[in-house]
Amino acid sequence: MVEELLSEENRLVLIVALGVFLILFMALLLILFFKLSQRKIIQKELEKKDLEIQYQKELLSAVIITQEEERKRIAQDLHDDISSKLNIVSLNSHLLTAPNLTANEVIEITANIIDLTHKALDNSRKIAHGLLPPVLDKFGLHAGVEELCMEFNSSKAVNIDYQNKTTFAISDNDKHLHVFRILQELMNNSLRHGKATVISILFEEENGIKNCHYTDNGIGFEMKNNENQKGLGMKNIESRIAFLNGKLTLESVLNKGISVVFNFK
Ligand SMILES: Nc1ncnc2c1ncn2[C@@H]1O[C@H](COP(=O)(O)OP(=O)(O)O)[C@@H](O)[C@H]1O
Ligand SMILES: [Mg+2]
Repeated sequence: MVEELLSEENRLVLIVALGVFLILFMALLLILFFKLSQRKIIQKELEKKDLEIQYQKELLSAVIITQEEERKRIAQDLHDDISSKLNIVSLNSHLLTAPNLTANEVIEITANIIDLTHKALDNSRKIAHGLLPPVLDKFGLHAGVEELCMEFNSSKAVNIDYQNKTTFAISDNDKHLHVFRILQELMNNSLRHGKATVISILFEEENGIKNCHYTDNGIGFEMKNNENQKGLGMKNIESRIAFLNGKLTLESVLNKGISVVFNFK
């Protein structure tokens, strides 16, 4: 009888011990699971941060590369269009100092000098205009975009519909230069890649924030493909928008053109 009781008690202890062991085991499993998933979340966050840093680096290098390309282009323009002409002007001026020149020779050399100086002046104006359009500098973004549209319209390849429902303070011209460059790039892309024939640009303002709506009717592109192959131009647009603390949304459907909206203050 006593033995029977003991063995029953033993069994009870065994069951309780097993129960406690099971609970402890499950708790341990839970803790392990929790720790593992926590580590996974941290790892995912780190990977996301890494990607962000990588993207920032790409944007920065796009800016640097574009700047260097621009410098190269300016150096070439200066060399080909100005320096070479001034060189010949200099040679011609020296010729004028030669003794025994006939009257006709003097007339010919002087005409040459006048012609080349005119051309060099014209070209230097064009180069300066390309670097910073004087209208934009003097009269602000609206006038700058108007002139840009006129230049594109005069090519007859494209028809631009430009509307402005806001005002731009000249004091913000430094910021507005970014907007101007963004539109320049978008318009060049519409012509070059999109083969667009109609472009529309609209500025409007909502709660103190200015919005720019841009569309073209070109061939567009597949968003999925483009996400991975943004060129220098698009990266530059993004870094300019980041500089303006703005937001950019871009939509495009193959054969249906593109639509871009960005805002800035
Ligand atoms: N308006 C557009 N219509 C069609 N495709 C476009 C347009 N804008 C951009 N793209 C596509 O996006 C790509 C990236 O453009 P971008 O960054 O300006 O580079 P890039 O002009 O130097 O090729 C282009 O090569 C083109 O395939
Ligand atoms: Mg481009």
